[in-house]
Amino acid sequence: MKLTVVGGGSTYTPELIDGFARLRDTLPVEELVLVDPAAERLELVGGLARRIFAKQGHDGRIVTTSDLDAGVDGADAVLLQLRVGGQAAREQDETWPLECGCVGQETTGAGGLAKALRTVPVVLDIAERVRRTNPDAWIIDFTNPVGIVTRALLQAGHKAVGLCNVAISFQRKFAGLLGVTPSDIHLDHVGLNHLTWETAVRLGGPEGEDVLPELLTEHRDTIAGDLRLPRPLLDRLGVVPSYYLRYFYAHDEVVRELGTKPSRAAEVAQMERQLLTMYGDPALDEKPELLAKRGGAYYSEAAVDLAAGLLGGGGSPYQVVNTLNRGTLPFLPDDAVIEVQAAVGPKGPTPLAVPAVDPLYAGLMANVTAYEDLALTAALRGGRDRVFKALLAHPLVGQYAYAEGLTDRLIAHNREHLAWA
Ligand code: G6P
Ligand code: MN
Repeated sequence: MKLTVVGGGSTYTPELIDGFARLRDTLPVEELVLVDPAAERLELVGGLARRIFAKQGHDGRIVTTSDLDAGVDGADAVLLQLRVGGQAAREQDETWPLECGCVGQETTGAGGLAKALRTVPVVLDIAERVRRTNPDAWIIDFTNPVGIVTRALLQAGHKAVGLCNVAISFQRKFAGLLGVTPSDIHLDHVGLNHLTWETAVRLGGPEGEDVLPELLTEHRDTIAGDLRLPRPLLDRLGVVPSYYLRYFYAHDEVVRELGTKPSRAAEVAQMERQLLTMYGDPALDEKPELLAKRGGAYYSEAAVDLAAGLLGGGGSPYQVVNTLNRGTLPFLPDDAVIEVQAAVGPKGPTPLAVPAVDPLYAGLMANVTAYEDLALTAALRGGRDRVFKALLAHPLVGQYAYAEGLTDRLIAHNREHLAWA
């Protein structure tokens, strides 16, 4: 089996390698290609990747290249984990929206739109090249904003599935709190990428007993603390929102907080410098502790599971993925991309049936789906007016004056990445 990681020079890659090494019975990777235009970084990451495989007795071959076409040739699956403009562009996304009193975040709100506009054309170009060389390969998209990017890929007819680590992180966390093994936990997980709610926590599988009420009674403080959401909110909802819902449920508080501290991008850039220095040390042969300070916990395990399922080698029968709605959530268009539990096999994901969604969540999902639709149109076709409309439709922007001010800022800060601007 051959896998290719586009954006393989990311400081996150050792996390992925560690997962491939530990879980090689689930996903027997014979050749792993790391593709990245940043040759120097790629060598540092590739060197550590080889040492991790060697230490763990994995005899798979690790190849590094900056040649995308050569890298994807013959791959069974291609993982996309790239960041157009790097942490510098992310820093912008997290900063200028604050000038209008709006949240600055890399995947939601105005910053998330900027990222979508920069990213969609690049990802589509890569996917086109994958299809030309290798039409049967699965594309697994980790590249944010995952919902919009996956929708772009599926709309262009690619064999793609979007993936995020929010659900698997909850699964691991809840398993720890309940003292059971993670595979015994089945989450009823519903929404859009980075806009999800855990509406049940089942033991044993999709038909299992729902222990969410007990989990909340016993561990509400821990869960609310991790999410940094008020405890009474969890009591009232009776479900567990993802931490991205904090940008909605506590928007103004987050804006005030962000105004007083360095951006996450600056923090991450600092960590990346330290990580790259560590990766250059020939004595290092495992993923360093410092990587745990990044948000990507368990993303390698989610990737192994999904690739194994898609390539017919096993993996968990049900997995949380980003895929076409096709009637699963009847209040959303069929071609919307949703994040739900799905049965995963070589034909791709088939969403499990979802019980009726409370209007409390359905309304926000519908609103953000409409925004994602407009955002994708803006990313594909460009134009100030399309950017403005996407912002006006976003529930975290909404007002005319904000949408106008943010449109100008978005374009000014991203001109070099936007072909039409
Ligand atoms: C979580 C999200 C990812 C996001 C990451 C950011 O893992 O699911 O989509 O990219 O956090 O983590 P960072 O360490 O870059 O802030
Ligand atoms: Mn994510």
